[in-house]
Amino acid sequence: MSAMDDMIDAARQAMDRAYAPYSNFPVGAVVRGESGTLYAGCNVETSAYPQGWCAEASAIAAMVAAGERRIVEVAVMGRGEALVTPCGGCRQKLREFAGDEVVIHVCGPEGLRRSVTLGELLPLAFGPENLK
Ligand code: THU
Repeated sequence: MSAMDDMIDAARQAMDRAYAPYSNFPVGAVVRGESGTLYAGCNVETSAYPQGWCAEASAIAAMVAAGERRIVEVAVMGRGEALVTPCGGCRQKLREFAGDEVVIHVCGPEGLRRSVTLGELLPLAFGPENLK
C-alpha cells in the first residue's frame, strides 16, 4: 500500500471515530511527522458548542505528545460535496509546525479530491519565525 493510501486509511478511521453528535459532520485528520510516523485525530464536540475542537487540532496534539515538532504532510477527510479544507484557526495551528510548502491532501470518503499547500491556504502567514 502506498504512503498516500496509508494516510487516507488513517484519516478514514479517525473520521469514523469522530465525536460529532451536534453537527453530524465527522472529520478525520492525519499529520505525518518528520520521522514518517502518522498521527491521526478527529473532531470532538461538546454540548457547550464552542468548546469542541477540530480533527486537525487532535492530530497535532497527538504528534506533539509523541515528541515530534515538524509536520511534513497532512490529510483531512470529511463528507459532503464541498472540499473539507482546514478552518482558519487550524491553518494557523498547522503553520506552527509546518512550512508554506507542506502539502495538505483534501479527501472525501472515496479518497483524494485535491492537494493544496499550506501557503495557498494561509498566504503571508504570521508564524514562529516572526518571534525569533
Ligand atoms: N471541522 C474539523 O474538525 N476540521 C475541519 O477542517 C473543518 C471543520 C469540524 C468542527 C466541527 O466539529 C464540525 O467539523 C462542523 O464544523
